[in-house]
Amino acid sequence: MDPNELADRALDEIAAAADEATLEAVRARYLGRKDGELTRALRGLKDLSPERRAAEGAAANEAKARVDGAISERRAALRAASLERDLGGSREDLSLPPRTVRLGRLHPISRTIREITGIFATMGFESVEGPEVEWDYYNFEALNIPPDHPARDKFSTLWIENTAEVALARTADGGSGGSAPAPAASRPMLLRTHTSPMQIRVMEQRRPPVRVLVPGRCYRFEATDATHETVFFQTEGLAIDEQLSMADLKGVLYSAARQLFGGARKVRFRPDYFPFTEPSAEMAFDCIVCDGSGTTDEGNCRTCGATGWIEWLGCGMVHPKALERVGYDSTRYQGFAFGGGVERIAMLLTGTPDIRLFHENDLRYLESV
Ligand code: DAH
Repeated sequence: MDPNELADRALDEIAAAADEATLEAVRARYLGRKDGELTRALRGLKDLSPERRAAEGAAANEAKARVDGAISERRAALRAASLERDLGGSREDLSLPPRTVRLGRLHPISRTIREITGIFATMGFESVEGPEVEWDYYNFEALNIPPDHPARDKFSTLWIENTAEVALARTADGGSGGSAPAPAASRPMLLRTHTSPMQIRVMEQRRPPVRVLVPGRCYRFEATDATHETVFFQTEGLAIDEQLSMADLKGVLYSAARQLFGGARKVRFRPDYFPFTEPSAEMAFDCIVCDGSGTTDEGNCRTCGATGWIEWLGCGMVHPKALERVGYDSTRYQGFAFGGGVERIAMLLTGTPDIRLFHENDLRYLESV
């Protein structure tokens, strides 16, 4: 048969082949090495006279090329269609773009703690952490606040009554050693109301010189509002050495305030009272919103309550009694301590108007600051 006619017929069959197996059968029928119809036609060429061979050979080769090409094309089309079917039937859509990786970020409180600890680290203060469930002894007694002391009124305390919890906390407390009285189930425990108990724990475990910074969660039984939370963070600092004075305390805190809030910060110290420091002071810096003037374009500055000052922390020279209690020679060693809230600093650094925004864990807010 004429190779061109053969090719036309093959092309029809190729177009009609609905799957690769049928297509393969068509290919074998026309191009099979032994019996393929076109193969045979081509093989027959060698019996022709040279003139006819040249003319018919060209036509036959062209016909074979047409069939070859059509088979390749049809095979590709059948494969694409079958892939499409497989994908459509499965639940994964491989054509979807990959899910973007969401980078984590630090909570603004963590960021602020890192900033504070970083600043004090440059002045030689090592960061240490302590237990949030604390003995009455460390939270109050060792800090010169005995059970009937009026200073206890400043701390609205969350006491722990469950004896099982007491037992657990006692185990956790086991390693701290020191001169604290032996644990007894009757000893009261609480959620620490400040980070100051770590002053005692650190001094029990170390000999001077001491320079530590203690960031951590604290708890008070209070109503919440824009500037108060029942759970909040403090950072506590303690430095003990020979010949430390109030001037060192002021210098360290002044430097910290400048590093936190930039060049021109003014710092104010006013006398205050804390049972575990003598003398004691409260430290404030001039308001970073109104620059200490107490007023803004909109009137009274709401950040500092129109006072021009923002209180940061309580501080003072460590009480000699506290030093003697942990076995330090108070005629040889002195030291200073300071402790204050972290949220207030975080609020100023991030422009957060309400402390509760930090603890509600609404990502829409936390990711925006
Ligand atoms: N712990 C005190 C409070 O929460 C603050 C404080 C005052 C810490 C004086 C100190 C200090 O280290 O020396 O109110």
